[in-house]
Amino acid sequence: MTKKQGWSLFPFSKGTAVKPSIAIDSAASQPPSGAMIQIEHLTKVYQEGEAQRVVLDGVNLTIAAGEFVVLLGHSGSGKSTLLNLISGIDQPSAGTIRINDLAITTLDERSRTLLRRDYIGFVFQFFNLIPTLTVLENITLPQELAGVAAPIAQQSGVMLLEKVGLIDRQQTYPDKLSGGQQQRVAIARALAHNPQLVLADEPTGNLDEETGQTVLQLLLDLTRNANKTLIMATHNPEIARYADRVLRVQDGQLTPVRVHPDAAEEVLA
Ligand SMILES: Nc1ncnc2c1ncn2[C@@H]1O[C@H](COP(=O)(O)OP(=O)(O)O)[C@@H](O)[C@H]1O
Ligand SMILES: [Mg+2]
Repeated sequence: MTKKQGWSLFPFSKGTAVKPSIAIDSAASQPPSGAMIQIEHLTKVYQEGEAQRVVLDGVNLTIAAGEFVVLLGHSGSGKSTLLNLISGIDQPSAGTIRINDLAITTLDERSRTLLRRDYIGFVFQFFNLIPTLTVLENITLPQELAGVAAPIAQQSGVMLLEKVGLIDRQQTYPDKLSGGQQQRVAIARALAHNPQLVLADEPTGNLDEETGQTVLQLLLDLTRNANKTLIMATHNPEIARYADRVLRVQDGQLTPVRVHPDAAEEVLA
């Protein structure tokens, strides 16, 4: 397991060898000690009338604390399904997911909600901000609902808005912001409770390339430098070069992908 200490971001530009990604090969099946996530024989089947769609077919995966794992796959390959299972939003047809040795697949819905509230931050492709709340309220309300005192939620909300560069927009409503700005608010919201695990489902998928790069840099900066575990679904091979590990989601399986820093697209296309 490779962990970058004090790693900071470089400009995200095509063709720049910013950070060699790590090829995992056989190490993929070796559970590292201190695993944050352990997935065993995970299967998800959707019933469609008479037919069954097997989206995940006996997946095994171990992710260490502090790792950045990219899930690469075409639309419909099962990336969101896997993230939703890890977050406990959805439940598997079979198999086990452990987070910090807690088998979340045995928990009831309320316990899974509490787990998400305490340990997991989620960033969505379409931001999912609440339109009737201001930027600051979008960040503080979930905290207050989770029992954090309003002044403390405000304080940390303001601090996060400073970090994502939107402190001057705290009283603005989301529809007055650009897509990139909305995603920066969503990142602040996802990090407000200081989660150990951050799940990002195509966080740049709805942004133009330049904005997407800025948002990605921000997300990586705020998670990597804080030593959080990050799992990001994407179909953009460029992102893969930043990861500790890249897994292709295809035909219900996860396959390790070797990424060459200077030729990501050739290897991954
Ligand atoms: N609630 C559902 N009911 C039936 N099929 C679903 C449901 N959610 C996802 N699927 C199917 O599962 C497959 C994987 O979907 P998804 O995980 O969203 O893929 P990705 O995020 O990689 O685009 C797709 O074929 C999709 O149609
Ligand atoms: Mg998806």
